[in-house]
Amino acid sequence: MSVLKADDVVKWYGDLEVLRGVTFEVEPGQVKVIIGPSGSGKSTLLRMLATLETPDRGTVTLEGRAPGPGEVGMVFQRFNLFQNMTALDNVMCGLVEVRRLKKDEAKDQALAFLTRVGLAEHAAKYPDELSGGQQQRVAIARALVMKPKAMLFDEPTSALDIELVREVRDVMERLAREGMTMVVVSHDFRFANDVASSVLMMDEGRIVEEAPPDEFFSAPKEERTKRFLALVE
Ligand SMILES: Nc1ncnc2c1ncn2[C@@H]1O[C@H](COP(=O)(O)OP(=O)(O)OP(=O)(O)O)[C@@H](O)[C@H]1O
Ligand SMILES: [Mg+2]
Repeated sequence: MSVLKADDVVKWYGDLEVLRGVTFEVEPGQVKVIIGPSGSGKSTLLRMLATLETPDRGTVTLEGRAPGPGEVGMVFQRFNLFQNMTALDNVMCGLVEVRRLKKDEAKDQALAFLTRVGLAEHAAKYPDELSGGQQQRVAIARALVMKPKAMLFDEPTSALDIELVREVRDVMERLAREGMTMVVVSHDFRFANDVASSVLMMDEGRIVEEAPPDEFFSAPKEERTKRFLALVE
């Protein structure tokens, strides 16, 4: 039984068919890593799975139904925090606005999640007082506090300096070990190798190959995957 499923999803932007019938599912506790060239539709697919956009054809389902607010968490490349709000307020606002929790309770839960990502002592800081790695961990806490059934990450470490990649990768690896269901667009092959249940290659709006990481990286079947891996490595 899959947690999150895209079934024959098609998306057009103007006269460009960005997703050309994508079928894909994640089972509980699986971590799927998506790679592929710029413009192949990776972010568009994640936005569909997060229901930030609606498909022109096909369906996205969470446990067989339409996902509700906060049930699919999303973390973006550029953090997307509210700049005029502290780390704590960024994390608790969904609990207050969407889940309708009382402020005190929301604050307790938000602090617990900031602690989980190692940021308890930074709760009162604004995003521009935090490093990129810290901001990204706030963004992760903000998604997690909603108790999502699945977490989506769109190139979560690619805007970070190399030393900061590790702290975000550590948080993601821990989440994976704890059994979170995850879909991650990333060209961090080390993460993919260590954590992924399978790696997917996207090209021109299609998933062209999916395989466990050892197989995917050492013996890719598709010509397109071979060419892409050669280019990236
Ligand atoms: N809101 C939009 N309006 C019009 N075109 C869009 C929109 N979003 C994406 N596109 C186009 O859809 C195609 C796929 O974009 P998408 O962002 O999904 O690619 P991607 O695989 O995530 O690329 P990258 O690796 O550069 O992030 C691109 O040609 C892009 O220009
Ligand atoms: Mg993208």
